[in-house]
Amino acid sequence: MPYPRTARTTITATLIATLAALGFTLAVFSNSDASAADADADAAKGQQVYQIYCITCHGATGKGDGPVGKTLTPPPRDFSVGDFKFGGTSQEIFDTISNGAASKGGSPLMAPWGAVIPEQDRWDLVAYIRTLKQ
Ligand code: HEC
Repeated sequence: MPYPRTARTTITATLIATLAALGFTLAVFSNSDASAADADADAAKGQQVYQIYCITCHGATGKGDGPVGKTLTPPPRDFSVGDFKFGGTSQEIFDTISNGAASKGGSPLMAPWGAVIPEQDRWDLVAYIRTLKQ
């Protein structure tokens, strides 16, 4: 037996308290981060990121008619309409961009961008996509 009983109990209690505190902190941070990042999102910055990664499929005006996009079935979403198959809240659009459409049962050609594009840039993309609605 490596530790006397009381020491073990203390270690266990400390561990549980630490994990609980960590879980609580993460929960609070992930909520406030998301809404703050959404509120601070910069559509002009989003446009720059869009032109690098998204324009070949989604097209210059977001109609899904980019050179690659117009060859795809299902086609990329037409952002000028502003209807979203996988949810239209900022958080849902952010999640689709981050995790890919396949994570919600859609096309794997709409790739997960979470590992490629930094988080704030993905919020900026959400803001830019909203400006494309006509
Ligand atoms: C290789 C082509 C391709 C590229 C590049 C691409 N997409 Fe898509 N995107 C698609 C396709 C195809 C769909 C439709 C998926 C479906 O209906 O299952 C889609 C759908 C979407 C949707 C709509 C999801 C919904 O709920 O309707 C969003 C938002 C989106 N893409 C954002 C982006 C952003 C932002 C980028 C750049 C970071 C990007 N896409 C890059 C092909 C692409």
